[in-house]
Amino acid sequence: MVQLHDKRFEVFIEKAAIDERVQALAAQIQADYRGMNPLLLGILNGSFIFAADLFRHLSTPAEISFIKLASYKGTTSTGNIITAIGLEENIADRHILIVEDIIDTGRTLHSFLPQVLQQQPASVKIACFLSKPDARVCDVQPDYTGFDIPDVFVVGYGLDYDGQGRNLQHLYRLSDNQ
Ligand code: IMP
Ligand code: MG
Repeated sequence: MVQLHDKRFEVFIEKAAIDERVQALAAQIQADYRGMNPLLLGILNGSFIFAADLFRHLSTPAEISFIKLASYKGTTSTGNIITAIGLEENIADRHILIVEDIIDTGRTLHSFLPQVLQQQPASVKIACFLSKPDARVCDVQPDYTGFDIPDVFVVGYGLDYDGQGRNLQHLYRLSDNQ
C-alpha cells in the first residue's frame, strides 16, 4: 500500500508482469515494422517510461520523439481543442506509432489524430500501455495494448495522481479501503 496526497493505492500489476508484457509488445512491433524505420511519438508526460522501455527493446532501426498535448477548454462546440507542442520532425511519409500511457475516454487521441493525419504520414498506429475500454466515450482503437483494465484510477510506471507516483515501479490502483 502507498499513500499519495490524500489517497491510498494498492499494487495492481507487478513490475515483472509489466516488463514481460512490454517486451512482448516490442517484439510484435518490431516484426510489424521491419524495414520501415518507424517514428515513435511519445505523448508526455505519462508515456515517458513506457516509451523508453518499449523503444530500448526494438533492435531494428527506429526513431523516437516526444510531444506534449495542450488542451484549450470551451473554444469549440465540440469541447477541447488539442494542440501538439514540440513536434519538430517532418512526419509526412513516415510510419508513425503514437505511444500513450493510457487511453481512458479516448477524447485526447480522438482530437489529436486528425492533426497527425493532416500531415500525411505513410501510416499511423497507436500503442498504449493501458486501455480502459469501459470508459471510452470517443471511438479510438489502439493497435497495441499492454493491458486492458477496468475503469479504476491507476498510478505508477509513468502515470500520476496530481504529479505524484510516476516513479512507482509497479502499477497501483486506488484502494477500496481509504
Ligand atoms: P483520455 O483523453 O480520457 O483518453 O485520457 C487520457 C489521459 O488521461 C491519459 O493520457 C492520462 O494522462 C489521463 N488518465 C486517464 N486515466 C488515468 C488514470 O487512471 N491514472 C492516471 N492518469 C489517467
Ligand atoms: Mg497522457
